[in-house]
Amino acid sequence: MSIDRIAHPGLRERIMSADEAAALIRPGDTVGMSGFTGAGYPKAIPPALAARIEAAHAAGEAFRIRLWTGASTGPELDGALSRSDAIEYRLPYNSDPVGRDKINRGEIDYLDMHLSHVAPMVWEGFFGPLDVAVIEVAGINADGSLIPATSVGNNKTWLDRADKVILEVNGWHDLRLEGMHDIYYGTALPPNRVPIPMLRADDRIGQTTFRCDPDKVAGIVLTDLPDRNTPFTPIGAVSREIAGLIVDFLGHEVRAGRLSNSLLPLQSGVGNVANAVLEGLKTAPFEGLTAYTEVLQDGMLELLESGKLLSCSTTALSLSPEGAARFRENLDVFRDKLILRTTEISNHPEVIRRLGCISMNGMIEADIYGNVNSSLVMGSKIMNGIGGSGDFARNAYLSIFVSPSTAKGGRISAIVPQASHVDHITQDVQVIVTEQGLADLRGLAPRKRAEAIIANCAHPEYREALRDYYDRALAGAYGLQTPSLPGEALSWHQRFIDTGDMRAK
Ligand code: COA
Repeated sequence: MSIDRIAHPGLRERIMSADEAAALIRPGDTVGMSGFTGAGYPKAIPPALAARIEAAHAAGEAFRIRLWTGASTGPELDGALSRSDAIEYRLPYNSDPVGRDKINRGEIDYLDMHLSHVAPMVWEGFFGPLDVAVIEVAGINADGSLIPATSVGNNKTWLDRADKVILEVNGWHDLRLEGMHDIYYGTALPPNRVPIPMLRADDRIGQTTFRCDPDKVAGIVLTDLPDRNTPFTPIGAVSREIAGLIVDFLGHEVRAGRLSNSLLPLQSGVGNVANAVLEGLKTAPFEGLTAYTEVLQDGMLELLESGKLLSCSTTALSLSPEGAARFRENLDVFRDKLILRTTEISNHPEVIRRLGCISMNGMIEADIYGNVNSSLVMGSKIMNGIGGSGDFARNAYLSIFVSPSTAKGGRISAIVPQASHVDHITQDVQVIVTEQGLADLRGLAPRKRAEAIIANCAHPEYREALRDYYDRALAGAYGLQTPSLPGEALSWHQRFIDTGDMRAK
């Protein structure tokens, strides 16, 4: 019973239904909810709030909220609230398809942010006050401190900043999670900031629970509901080829003496390619690996179990149902190797730079100079958001971006004359990999970058057209530092918008 998980006697008195808890949220409130990559988000109150808001709309009343989270959540949260037109404003990340649709139709104001910026900017007061925090936890201790669940995200900040706190105590979470978290309370605002005392990826610098003022707790809802746990997609051939190129490249770096055989702390984004790289590392000749990342997916569990990966620091789990079951089965093995931190630390630029992470993230497209677009299809349609990719790419020891060389059955090239939107400027991008090959851009000036990217990464169907564009730019550009033809540079995107295909007929 989840009630046994509330050891604080006074707080047991505040148990209520999800409908009663949802009634504590008012029209126009700014609400900070837990949740990061489908883990540790509240699952009962958001649907109850969505129903309440739908009823208000049916009665002709205006009712929307401003919603902040750690990152993506699940269908019960972003899905339900988006479907009910309950969200006026959203930050910092969304991958829910219903939410995405509403954002792209201009019905939700979406602030897509570097994830490491969220907590400090909220503390700096840039976004105004936080009315309510709705946080899922695994349990409540006798002193009122909270046992975090499967993600940490911005929960510490929401609990500290909100006027009112509502908790979901979820009996689905394994209580052996207790002790795996590292909640650091040493951050401060300028001019009082001090160095983050972390020298190794597996250092523990904080406490295992969240502080929470029991007087602020307005309600507690008991649940027993699973995380989103997206089914695992079998690794495709293209992902496997990209992964193979990355593993070979890392081996090359070891042989060149720029990396040791234990590499440096790995960061890998979510998705099929990222899982393929982790799979590739299982049989690669590296040993004693570590990870300093923001999401832990199935592939990392296997590396931890096999002993190849000694430790993993993350802010959230992002597992398939099979991965989640495996996590529970072997939780005693993972307990000492896995550290769940707040996003402000997992994604902290100072720490990432100090540790020298190897970052590997997906992209929508890259241009011939190595500017990368991670977020906006055709420059205007949001896919998910920048997430933590910018936190890692700029500060990493090695920043690698990956993508299949084409999308939508070959109708879109991932290598384009000019990126239709730039999340990562060329200076933050050191290696680009598609299934066609790898372009090592380190030390290359722009014209050499263009040659490497076109030759190594572009799909053969687009390579000649890119070469032709580049040659004409070399002959006719206004300047030759980054030869470009502004009137033509985005014509591939326009052609796709007009005809559904980037290829010229
Ligand atoms: N133009 C249009 N659509 C494109 C595209 C392009 N150039 N490149 C990819 N897509 C589409 C794919 O067709 C696919 O669409 P579908 O879902 O309708 O099939 C979707 O984007 C996902 O692409 P996929 O190739 O499966 O790669 P992915 O799952 O690795 O996702 C990103 C790629 C860029 C969308 C994803 O990595 C992302 O959101 N990145 C930003 C956040 C981030 O990097 N976080 C890292 C820290 S966790």
